[in-house]
Amino acid sequence: MQTIHVERELAASAAFVFAQITDHAGYDRFPGVTASELIRPGTDHPNGVGAVRRIVIGPFVLQEVIERYQAPAAMAYRITRCKPLPINHKVGLINIESCGKHQCRVSWHSEFAVAVPVLGRLLGPILRQRMARGFAVILKTIEKRYQSGAEFKLLINRKDLHQHKLAEQTPEPLPPGGVRLKVDRFALTANNITYAVLGDSLSYWKFFPAEEGWGKLPVWGFADVVESACQGIAIGERIYGYFPFASELMVSPAKVNEYGFMDAAAHRRELPTVYNHYVRVANDPMYSAQRENLQAIFRPLFTTSFLLDDFLAEHDMFGAKTLILSSASSKTAISCAFLMEKFRRDRSAYELVGLTSEGNADYVKNLGCYDRVLDYSAIEQLDNSKQALFIDFAGNADLTREIHTHYADQLTHSCVAGVSHWQERAQHSNLPGPRPVMFFAPDQVTRRVAEWGQAGFAERLAIATRAFFAFVEDQIDIQEFKGPDAALKVFTDLLNGRMNPKVGYIVKFGTD
Ligand SMILES: NC(=O)c1ccc[n+]([C@@H]2O[C@H](COP(=O)([O-])OP(=O)(O)OC[C@H]3O[C@@H](n4cnc5c(N)ncnc54)[C@H](OP(=O)(O)O)[C@@H]3O)[C@@H](O)[C@H]2O)c1
Repeated sequence: MQTIHVERELAASAAFVFAQITDHAGYDRFPGVTASELIRPGTDHPNGVGAVRRIVIGPFVLQEVIERYQAPAAMAYRITRCKPLPINHKVGLINIESCGKHQCRVSWHSEFAVAVPVLGRLLGPILRQRMARGFAVILKTIEKRYQSGAEFKLLINRKDLHQHKLAEQTPEPLPPGGVRLKVDRFALTANNITYAVLGDSLSYWKFFPAEEGWGKLPVWGFADVVESACQGIAIGERIYGYFPFASELMVSPAKVNEYGFMDAAAHRRELPTVYNHYVRVANDPMYSAQRENLQAIFRPLFTTSFLLDDFLAEHDMFGAKTLILSSASSKTAISCAFLMEKFRRDRSAYELVGLTSEGNADYVKNLGCYDRVLDYSAIEQLDNSKQALFIDFAGNADLTREIHTHYADQLTHSCVAGVSHWQERAQHSNLPGPRPVMFFAPDQVTRRVAEWGQAGFAERLAIATRAFFAFVEDQIDIQEFKGPDAALKVFTDLLNGRMNPKVGYIVKFGTD
């Protein structure tokens, strides 16, 4: 049996070191590691007990299972497969002892035997030496990262969204009662671009204040608690919610209960509650570690559509026989069409029409949730002798005018739900038919929660979400983009409309 024992004092906080060591998918950012992947998430935490990771180091491909996850003090793993050289791995244990705010002692212990007769005796000591050197390099890298303050944020010029940059941010000291959240993964869709487009008019820039003239983009995703001065919220907890496109967020939890808390930071007090609420995933009935990406992408979009469908159904679809959804390929429109199709049996009859770009039409048709799919050039084909409802996710001024002109008074309601075609946005004047009305989801949540109660609302939403996830997971390809530079490129592509509706874009920061 070969035994490795590496001990180091690191000038880094224990929480930081723990978060780095347990960021399994992020090991490929350590020198010598050429690829890393979280093959199976853990049961209570994606990186926790039961997680399986695959790590490639030179010619070796290792598969390891996490057997202990005790934030921020210990992590144990076992190598279950090693190619091309089979090994019997008895134990891998990393203990982290905090010795102050920015200091800790790490001991990394591992025992193994090369499972090849005769040759194993020769190769064992060589492998032991290489592994010991590898452990030391990883710990040194973590210390360097901590000291270089590898924290960053995306800053967007509020007057010109095309001017944006990654900037370093120095971690602020934690205020009394505060919690530091390390942003781990989040989704990027056209909805995030809309947050920037409407940042000033709908206060989206106010959630995460930045330097004068600049804005921090809000995103939805998951983060881990890495420092806590708040009783009842422990280091290592995983949180879902609204974060800046940045490596961390400090919050001031209030109304803490087993399900979540509110960020009571002064600058957020006047902003809608739905964005200020953070979910403790351990007690969230909607959470599943296996479906984190799907949740990061669809939870906010599907919830909006659930509310929009509910609002329109309450008004009997404004008496319309044709429901027209623009940007039909967008994830929010798909969610909405799914619900309108699912619930149609209990409603007055309607036809669901999806309008999309020519290049996206086949994808939208294959989804099967619209009765009819047309590209934007075919509006003349719509039968304007029947009353219609326009649900607009595109916000394209020319398209809106065309729909209003085509239907005129046959348009019973014109609902503005998004501005995915943000470059084609413009003020309307003298539009035929009804005046477009903005749908504001937080108002509908407040009304329904008052009527159904928090639990009743959550239950109805959870049932619908589960049905939708079962449908949508076969319809999209989730792609992960690791690290700030890759994340910036995805943002720039989305801003410029370079996106594939079939792809779910996930940014993975890990703890870098
Ligand atoms: N009111 C709310 O609370 C709320 C909540 C969620 C989402 N929304 C809105 O719904 C819209 C869709 O959001 P999403 O996150 O679901 O989008 P998404 O899935 O990322 O949308 C992708 C689709 O949007 C269209 N698109 C995106 N960017 C474009 C560009 N620059 N130029 C032209 N077309 C572009 C294309 O569809 P087509 O080719 O089919 O047009 C594209 O396939 C957004 O405006 C979002 O803000 C509103």
